Amino acid sequence: MCPGSFDPITNGHLDVIERASSLFDEIVVVVGINQSKNRLFEPDERVEMIREATSYLPNVSVDTFKGLLVDFCVAHDIKAIVKGLRAVSDFDYELQMGQMNHSLAKVDTLFMPADPHYSFLSSSLVKEVATYGGDVSKLVPEAVLRRLKERVRS
Ligand code: PNS
Repeated sequence: MCPGSFDPITNGHLDVIERASSLFDEIVVVVGINQSKNRLFEPDERVEMIREATSYLPNVSVDTFKGLLVDFCVAHDIKAIVKGLRAVSDFDYELQMGQMNHSLAKVDTLFMPADPHYSFLSSSLVKEVATYGGDVSKLVPEAVLRRLKERVRS
């Protein structure tokens, strides 16, 4: 599985999902929908954008989860979590989460180095740049760009 908040999915996420889909028979992208105040897109919008952006990858499906990630893994017999790492700063927290998830349910986390073209990229920065009228067309899939433009306009 490739888990995340995906608010919204970026080209950096998409790169990791695409590479993971060539390593595994099946990939499920799961969108965390735990309550949080700072979300721009509703869970169903985030799912829709990911479905559209990954439609060219036949072994990728999209789902949502609430609560603990490992509970979803156990319920769906998922053995591995794939996470992209952009920089050493990502590693500290991701390592901690990976170790916690393994100790909770013996689910392993595999880290994939981000493409250096995307090491500066995050959903938060994309939202900030788009809010102030910056060009994010090279940073997000077309499915996101359209909705992002509408959302920041309103
Ligand atoms: O895109 P993000 O914000 O890096 O995604 C983080 C996410 C949603 C994958 C992570 O916060 C998560 O797994 N949340 C679910 C709650 C949980 O299982 N917490 C314990 C992790 S050790």
